[in-house]
Amino acid sequence: MQNAPRVTAFAAANLPTVETHMREIVAAVGPGLLRTMLLYHLGWSSTTGEPERAAAGKRIRPILVMAAGLAGGDVSPSAGAHWAAAAVELLHNFSLIHDDIEDRDLLRHGRATLWSVWGVPLAINAGDAMFAMAHQALLRTAEHGAKAEHSLAALNVFDTMCVALTRGQHQDIGFEQRTEISSAEYLEMIGGKTAALTEACCALGAIFGGSSAEQRIALASFGRDLGLAFQIQDDVLGVWGDPARTGKADSDLAHAKKTYPVLIAAERDAEFKRRYFSAIEAKRDEDWLRDRMEACGAREASEAAASATYQRGLAALTAAQAAAPALSLLGELARALFGRDA
Ligand code: IPE
Ligand code: IPE
Ligand code: MG
Ligand code: MG
Repeated sequence: MQNAPRVTAFAAANLPTVETHMREIVAAVGPGLLRTMLLYHLGWSSTTGEPERAAAGKRIRPILVMAAGLAGGDVSPSAGAHWAAAAVELLHNFSLIHDDIEDRDLLRHGRATLWSVWGVPLAINAGDAMFAMAHQALLRTAEHGAKAEHSLAALNVFDTMCVALTRGQHQDIGFEQRTEISSAEYLEMIGGKTAALTEACCALGAIFGGSSAEQRIALASFGRDLGLAFQIQDDVLGVWGDPARTGKADSDLAHAKKTYPVLIAAERDAEFKRRYFSAIEAKRDEDWLRDRMEACGAREASEAAASATYQRGLAALTAAQAAAPALSLLGELARALFGRDA
C-alpha cells in the first residue's frame, strides 16, 4: 500500500498466514473446474489451472480485522483473528463474483471476470461455494484456540453483515431502474453494500483480540465510516480515476451508474440529469458529463462528504482507546485509503 509503511510491514508479516488459510479452505473442495475457477478469481491460477500470481485485491478487509485485533493490547494477531481475516476476504470475493454478474462487468483487476470466461450459471455456483467457504473459515476460529462463545458471537456478526451486504446490493441493482434517488437513499445503500463488511471486520477483530464491549462498538463505527468514505471515494475514482489504474474496463459514466457524484450533479443541474439518464450508452459524451459535474461542484461535494465521513471515523477510533499499535495501523490505513488513485 502506497505511503503506509507500518501497514505494509504488518501486511507482509500477517497476510501470508491469511492466504495459506484461504488456500487450505479452497483446496478442500477437491480437484476440478470449480477449484480452478475459485483460484482464478483469487489471482492464483490461470483459466487453465496453471499456478500464477496475478494482480489480486488490496486485501484491505483482512488487514482491518487483524489490526483491530490488536486494539485490546495483543502484540500480534491471534489465530482467531487470522482465520476471521481469511473469512472476510473469502466473503468479499464471493460478493465480487456475484457483483460482476449483476453488473455485467467484463474486467476485474484487469482480468476477465469469472462469468465472462465460464458463463453465468457456473459463476453463480462458484460464488455460492466461496460464500460457504467464508463460513467454514470463520468456524475454524473455534478449532484454533478461540472460545466457543467468541466464535458464536463472530458468526452472529458475520451473518448479520451478509444480510446487510445483500440488501445493499439489492438496493443498488434497484437504482438501475430509477432516476429519482436521494443522497440519503444512496448512503443507506452503500451502508449495506460496502460499509457493513468493513464494520464487521473491525467488530470481528475486536472479538478475537479481547477488546472490551465499548471498544468493540467504537471500532465498529470506525470501520463503518471507513467503508462509507471508501465507497464515496471509489465513486469519485469511478468517474475521474484512470481505468488503466483501477483495472476496470471503463468509467462508471459509460454505464450510467448512479454513484454519489452523479446524484449530487443530478440534484444541481437539470440538463446534466436529463442527458445522463436519457442518452443511449453508445452516444454518451463522457467529457461533457465530467465537465458539467465539475462545474456544479459535484466532485468537490463528493470529496468533502468522503472527507467528513473519514474524520468522523477517526473520532470513533480515538474513542476506542485502542492500544498504540492498533491505533497507528488503523490510522495509517485510513489515511492511505484516502491517498489512493486506484
Ligand atoms: C471493491 O472493493 C468493492 C467495493 C465494495 C467498492 P475493493 O476495492 O477493496 O476490492 P479489492 O479487494 O481491492 O479488489
Ligand atoms: C461492489 O460494488 C460491492 C460488493 C461487491 C458488495 P460495486 O459494483 O459498486 O463495485 P465495483 O466497481 O464492481 O468494484
Ligand atoms: Mg460492480
Ligand atoms: Mg455493483
